[in-house]
Amino acid sequence: MANTILVGAQWGDEGKGKIIDVLTENADIVVRYAGGNNAGHTVFIGKRKYVLHLVPSGILRKGKLCVIGNGVVADPVNLVEEIQGLRKLGVKVGDNLVVSETAHVVFPYHRELDSQREVLKGKNKIGTTKRGIGPAYGDKAARVGLRVGDLINPERLKEKLAFRIKENNEVLRALGAKPLSFKKVFAEYNTAGKYLKPFVANTVVLLHEAMQRGNNLLFEGAQGTFLDIDHGTYPFVTSSNTTAGGACTGSGVPPHRMDRVVGVMKAYTTRVGEGPLPTENAEVADMLHAMGREFGATTGRARRCGWFDSVATRHATMVNGIDDLAVTNLDGLDMVETIKVCVAYRHGRTRYDFVPNDAQILAECEPVYVELGGWRRPTSKAKSWKQLPPKARAYLKAIAELSGAKLAIASVGPAREQTIFV
Ligand code: GDP
Ligand code: IMO
Ligand code: MG
Repeated sequence: MANTILVGAQWGDEGKGKIIDVLTENADIVVRYAGGNNAGHTVFIGKRKYVLHLVPSGILRKGKLCVIGNGVVADPVNLVEEIQGLRKLGVKVGDNLVVSETAHVVFPYHRELDSQREVLKGKNKIGTTKRGIGPAYGDKAARVGLRVGDLINPERLKEKLAFRIKENNEVLRALGAKPLSFKKVFAEYNTAGKYLKPFVANTVVLLHEAMQRGNNLLFEGAQGTFLDIDHGTYPFVTSSNTTAGGACTGSGVPPHRMDRVVGVMKAYTTRVGEGPLPTENAEVADMLHAMGREFGATTGRARRCGWFDSVATRHATMVNGIDDLAVTNLDGLDMVETIKVCVAYRHGRTRYDFVPNDAQILAECEPVYVELGGWRRPTSKAKSWKQLPPKARAYLKAIAELSGAKLAIASVGPAREQTIFV
């Protein structure tokens, strides 16, 4: 398998967790390279459901090493809870998890500022997960962030945190929010730091040594292409590089060591939070929600839904260099009579074959659709390409071709077994 980067090709929640779980079988190490606990990656093993937020989904397979890379922002209190939760479910978390000493730390003032800024924005809010992601990456870029290496050193934590709390309390007061108690935050974070210390290492050196031994790496993307800080629908994005390039900067593994990019996309489109979504459609949303699907894994919010947008996925192929496609949730369209696929956008007299950079223009775009006949049969029991209804195969082929990459995997249900290799 060599080194594979897996990215979301849409607006997040494409089913990356499920596909990571499937691909982990052939990997030695799974690396998270961006984002924080704004992510929610769902994996079903048998009837048991696991939702991973910061810990790579590879943790659920025995004998695999999981790395939280330098590009991640980690809320340590939350990470401790996640580790304890996994252990309670019988999942081994010990020397199979390593956390980068240069990953940045999310503090309560980041979460508070995240919430306050959303309130200030009013109707222009982003609809963030309120996990403090934007302010934490902001501090990283402003060079005032604390890293995991600081967290596990009590003296340094004390000094740096005191300084940061002072400044942030001024800001919080100005916003009319409650200031934070240094004593309380220090105690909580020092305890989390002590708990996490055995997991902390220089992950860049670790990954390079692993590659020298011939290990295969699998990079677990979080969020999706259109939530990327550079390539997404700015400002309605997250604050990291979620696209394939982020796997290099977020792990320290250079571009020429990457062998393959897998793009995960749903057979339709969803988005949680605000921002443009050209193919959004109330009927599609009502149908999927009535099936009990498309509620956020992190915040429980109902996801916005729409038809498959091949202008967007083609763009994702371009910026990520997607080689292989994994299409998930095909079964969500099982009962649709006529399926629409967006092939271009219209904005006044202009026709777009790519995603315009201006979020305002994108919000005003009307999708140009082609229609394909639905298969009107359950697909969730199909075990092979041949067992899929011909119209389902035609649909998959069409969306892969329009997206400009090779169809490699079709997923027809949340379980490992409901995966068809094409
Ligand atoms: P991620 O963030 O990309 O890992 O995706 P989420 O876990 O947030 O959301 C994807 C949802 O789709 C989860 O509830 C998965 O269990 C579910 N899922 C993934 N693939 C399939 C599929 O092929 N069919 C069905 N029915 N559900 C799927
Ligand atoms: P996974 O990895 C879907 C969205 C939020 C919001 C925007 C910014 O599970 O696919 P943030 O809290 O990051 O500042 O929010 O990004 N968002 C996601 N949407 N899946 C995710 O992760 C997301 N992580 C962030 O809803 O619109
Ligand atoms: Mg998710």
